[in-house]
Amino acid sequence: MSDVTLRPARPDDDVDPLLRAAFGPAEGAGVAGVWADVAASDLVRASLVAVEGDGTGEARGDEGRVVGHVGLSHAWLDARRALVDLWLLAPLAVAPDRQGRGIGRRLLVAAVDAARAGGAPLLALEGDPAYYGAHGFAPAAAHDIEPASRRTPAPACQVVLLPGHEDWMSGRLVYPDAWWRHDCVGLRDPGLAQVEAVLGLTGAGPQDGSAPAGQAGTEVSGVISSSG
Ligand SMILES: CC(C)(COP(=O)(O)OP(=O)(O)OC[C@H]1O[C@@H](n2cnc3c(N)ncnc32)[C@H](O)[C@@H]1OP(=O)(O)O)[C@@H](O)C(=O)NCCC(=O)NCCS
Repeated sequence: MSDVTLRPARPDDDVDPLLRAAFGPAEGAGVAGVWADVAASDLVRASLVAVEGDGTGEARGDEGRVVGHVGLSHAWLDARRALVDLWLLAPLAVAPDRQGRGIGRRLLVAAVDAARAGGAPLLALEGDPAYYGAHGFAPAAAHDIEPASRRTPAPACQVVLLPGHEDWMSGRLVYPDAWWRHDCVGLRDPGLAQVEAVLGLTGAGPQDGSAPAGQAGTEVSGVISSSG
């Protein structure tokens, strides 16, 4: 019997309180706002929740609370040959009292599976390279893919290439308006400068997706916390 079950989000699942709690006072309102706008649009590609219980409660009408969520939505890659439709993974959130028990990892695996099944050529995100790098994501720069903003430190822009990906699919990520309306793209100072200092980058410095050995892991963890 499982303690937490994953399923597609339903219209009556209110993930707003979860997003606000997981991302905290500084970021929670922005992240919840952008997801509310995305969810009300035609941009959603998948939305998965982790619910307490073994999955049998849904049929009985006494399901446990929602303790995790991952949103997948539409974005583009502005490649030389064509504008490429891709999937963006954001936000990923687990209730603070349930973190560190593998729920995030399960949601991440399910998200990659959903993007693959949905035919996305690649899945992109902005987030902590220490966390996502351990779960199959690689620096976007390694595939000649640039973040949507210069304010996203290169190691934080990460992708998983999926079977539909072709070699010519490189270029800049383009996010729909909702992300900009809520100012949820990249980081801003002073947080941006702080992360760049940890990574050994300057504002206009090397954006090659690499980070100095021993720094991209532990020290930047907890510093980069974006909508991913
Ligand atoms: C990030 C988040 C989704 C992870 O969910 P979670 O359920 O706590 O993660 P898991 O239990 O699956 O973690 C798996 C592993 O990653 C590690 N980990 C968690 N957060 C990490 C981070 N920021 N950096 C590096 N490792 C991290 C855990 O220690 C665990 O390691 P282990 O398997 O060796 O024990 C969750 O902590 C969260 O909601 N954070 C606030 C919202 C947020 O910042 N989301 C975006 C992240 S960039």
